[in-house]
Amino acid sequence: MIHARITGTGSYLPGEPVSNEDLVRRGIDTSDEWVTSRTGISSRHLATAETGSSDLACKAAERAIEAAGCEAEDIDLIIVATSTPDYIFPSTAALLQSRLGIRNGGAAFDVQAVCSGFVYALSIAEKFIRSGSHKRALVVGAEVFSRILDWSDRSTCVLFGDGAGAVVLEASEQPGVRATALHADGSHHPILCVPGGVASGQVIGDPFLRMDGQAVFKFAVKVLGDVAHEVLELADCPVDSIDWLIPHQANIRIIQATAKRLGVPMEKVITTVERHGNTSAASIPLALDLAVRDGRIRPGHRIVLEGVGGGFTWGAALVDF
Ligand code: ACO
Repeated sequence: MIHARITGTGSYLPGEPVSNEDLVRRGIDTSDEWVTSRTGISSRHLATAETGSSDLACKAAERAIEAAGCEAEDIDLIIVATSTPDYIFPSTAALLQSRLGIRNGGAAFDVQAVCSGFVYALSIAEKFIRSGSHKRALVVGAEVFSRILDWSDRSTCVLFGDGAGAVVLEASEQPGVRATALHADGSHHPILCVPGGVASGQVIGDPFLRMDGQAVFKFAVKVLGDVAHEVLELADCPVDSIDWLIPHQANIRIIQATAKRLGVPMEKVITTVERHGNTSAASIPLALDLAVRDGRIRPGHRIVLEGVGGGFTWGAALVDF
C-alpha cells in the first residue's frame, strides 16, 4: 500500500516583526493591551507592496526541498493554498514552479479555501500520491493578507500577518498522513469575506476583508473541535495518542477553547499567533516548520493539523511525522 509522508518542511516570514506598538505609531487607533488581551497577538510580519505570495512561497519551498534532501526537479505536483494570489491567473503554483526552475513539470495549481487552504491542499496531495499518479508533492500555504486589509478598520487590520510555509509530501511504505476530513458550508460566507472582484478594469464591490468577529469566534471553536475528533475516529486513534495539535493560528482564545474542547493540554499545542498573527493558509505550515526546526516535533510524532476559514471551510489531517 502507498502512503504519503512529510519528508521536509520550510517556512519564510518577510521583513522584521511589526509590534502592536509599531501599528499605533503608524496611526492605527488601537493599543497593545487591546490586541494582546483579545487575540494573544504581539507582532506580525508584513510584506512590502512589491512582494507577492509567490515570492514568499518560493523561499519557504526552497527550504522544504532542502530539508527533504531532494531537488526541485524531483517534484511532480505543486499545490499552493492562497487567497492572495499574485495574479488572477496564472496560478501562484505555476509561478512558483517557474521560480523553482522546473521545466516540463507535473501538475501545478492553487487551492482557495482561505485559512483552511493548507489542510485542503495537503489532503488533495495525499490523494494524488496514494493513487500512485504522483510521487513527490510540494504543498505550500502562502499569503500576503496585508494587501486585502482595510487599514482604517482597526477591528480587522491588527489581526493578520504575511508569510509562507511548505512541506514536501512523498510516496512511502510507512504511514504518514493517516486521515483527513474536509468540510464547507457556504451559507456562512457573509461573516468573513472579501466581497469584491475586478471587472472591466474596475474594482467591483469591496476589495477588503470584512468580518463579524464574534460570529467567527463561535463557529471556529465548534468546528475545530468536531473535525479533530472526526480524523481521530477515522484513523481509530485515541485523543491521548496525539503528540502535537497544530490548529490554525487566528486567535489564542480560539486555540485554547479548541484544545479544551478536545481534551488536549496546551503543552501539546503549537502556537505562533503571538509572533505571526493570523497568516491564513500559511499559519499551519509555518507553525509546523517552527516546531520541527526547534526540535519539538520529531520523527514518529503524531500530529493533528486543523484549519477553519472563510467560506466557511474547515478541515483536519492526522499525520504521523
Ligand atoms: N483596538 C482597540 N479597540 C478596538 C479594536 C482595536 N484593534 N478593534 C475593535 N475595537 C473596539 C470596538 O470598536 C468596540 O468598541 P465599542 O465597544 O466602543 O464599540 C470594542 O473594541 C469591542 O469590539 P468587539 O468587536 O465587540 O470586540 P471583541 O471582544 O469581540 O473582540 C475580536 C474582537 C478580537 C475580533 C474577536 O471577536 C475575535 O477574536 N474573533 C475571532 C475572529 C478571528 O480571529 N478572525 C480571524 C479570521 S477568521 C479565521 O482565521 C478563522
